[in-house]
Amino acid sequence: MKMRNLRIFAAAAFFGCSLTIVADNVTAKVAPEGHITIAPEIYGQFAEHLGSCIYGGLWVGPESPIPNTEGYRNDVLQALKDLHVPVLRWPGGCFADDYHWKDGIGPRELRPKKQNTNWGGTIEDNSFGTHEFLNLCELLGCEPYVSANVGSGTVQEMEQWVEYMNSENDTPMARLRRQNGRDKAWGVKYLGVGNESWGCGGNMRPEYYADLYRHFQGFARDIDGHNLYRIACGASGGDEHWTDVLMREAGSLMQGISMHYYTVADWENHGKATKFSEDEYYETLATCCKMDGIISGHEAVMDKYDPQKRVGLMVDEWGTWWDVEDGTNPGHLYQQNTMRDAICAALSLNIFHRHAERVRMANIAQIVNVLQSMILTNMKGEMVLTPTYHVFEMYRPFQGATVLPIEANIPTQESAQGTLPLLSVSAARTTEGKTVIAIVNASLDKEQTVDLDGLKGKLSRARILTSNDVRDYNDFGARANAVVPATFKDVQGTQKGLSAKVPASSIVVIGIN
Ligand code: AHR
Repeated sequence: MKMRNLRIFAAAAFFGCSLTIVADNVTAKVAPEGHITIAPEIYGQFAEHLGSCIYGGLWVGPESPIPNTEGYRNDVLQALKDLHVPVLRWPGGCFADDYHWKDGIGPRELRPKKQNTNWGGTIEDNSFGTHEFLNLCELLGCEPYVSANVGSGTVQEMEQWVEYMNSENDTPMARLRRQNGRDKAWGVKYLGVGNESWGCGGNMRPEYYADLYRHFQGFARDIDGHNLYRIACGASGGDEHWTDVLMREAGSLMQGISMHYYTVADWENHGKATKFSEDEYYETLATCCKMDGIISGHEAVMDKYDPQKRVGLMVDEWGTWWDVEDGTNPGHLYQQNTMRDAICAALSLNIFHRHAERVRMANIAQIVNVLQSMILTNMKGEMVLTPTYHVFEMYRPFQGATVLPIEANIPTQESAQGTLPLLSVSAARTTEGKTVIAIVNASLDKEQTVDLDGLKGKLSRARILTSNDVRDYNDFGARANAVVPATFKDVQGTQKGLSAKVPASSIVVIGIN
């Protein structure tokens, strides 16, 4: 383990020049003020027609014996309300470029059944469609983010979808919506124009997609005061060429451009969610932290064309991606979620805080039962909140808060996937004028004393998420609460601020009034 001098402008670690090694004691200087807001949408979620994310996860239908409100699972609904989800992306993912929205409106029994060709060949009965999604967003109090079909759809289809969702007037699509039981327009703001158009969305070259984007966006209209935030399909990981071409050819016609980055060290062999060695643990975290440099790379390209930072970078898919759990459909991407995933989530959120000036949205993949989900459900009516859920819940005060820049000495560790910061600290002033600090100690064996200088006020709530083993996870039945937040007591006020003793592999969130 070694220490480096790190300036943390936004929240997470980034590397500067080397300094003397100071083991087990880090001093972080927190600036009294900041000016960059953490968009609440950085805490966004993603729900795709994939496996049991929608069917069985969010939606069981009104006739189900599982307790529900108009078809939405009550347990999941409540858990998501508690999370204050700011934005939900739907219907995909790869599914979006095969989705024809008119299949999902009107009486459910009349909707066509189709095969979900992207995800396991499952039969899609379209019982969850536009109304079901947008009404869910209303119940959750979140912004909908609709991904339009560019890969196999038409400009007219997308134009009509926007009219259906946003027209208040006596227009053909608004009339159709009214026939289907909804009078008022929903007023959708976020519109994605294609998904992974370089891959499952059409295997396009950036030049070709840039022209398609220009074409489609011209018909994605602002209607009746419902102005769209148009999001162009962005790069796969660090593909800066894609971003460059898109910004050059169409930057002036978009409000946001996306980027997808998954924590996968080896796409041929993802590895098990719950069984991994210490080396694999550090490799995973190093892979996760590559996000920091990848975002910086895209930011530099975007700054070239948009120095005013008008266009947002939307990391609209991110998270860990493991082998599916034994006995489950390989096309359904169902995986467990351990303390390792929670640490990845916290490190990623700290990275997003650090880049909050450009990163305006991030959507973890996915909300229920798919990849690094918040929630796992089964059809016996049971639900489990994952360690990642608890991170999102603990970090809630960061939504809309103002980043307080930090300077700190950060210990690092080498791994086969590169260097990783063993400690990540993020601070912000909340919308209520309080201060919130998040500290992630990624070390497997070293407790870390963190002195936070420059903080004024009284300690309020302090919580910790940790477990005896980073492989621990929550499961149906007796182990549902194996990894849950607890009160954190090892923190005290000092003359300069406060001092916290943060145990190995843990996440601490401290509030100051
Ligand atoms: O989240 C699962 C899939 O990952 C999405 O459908 C796709 O966009 C990405 O490749």
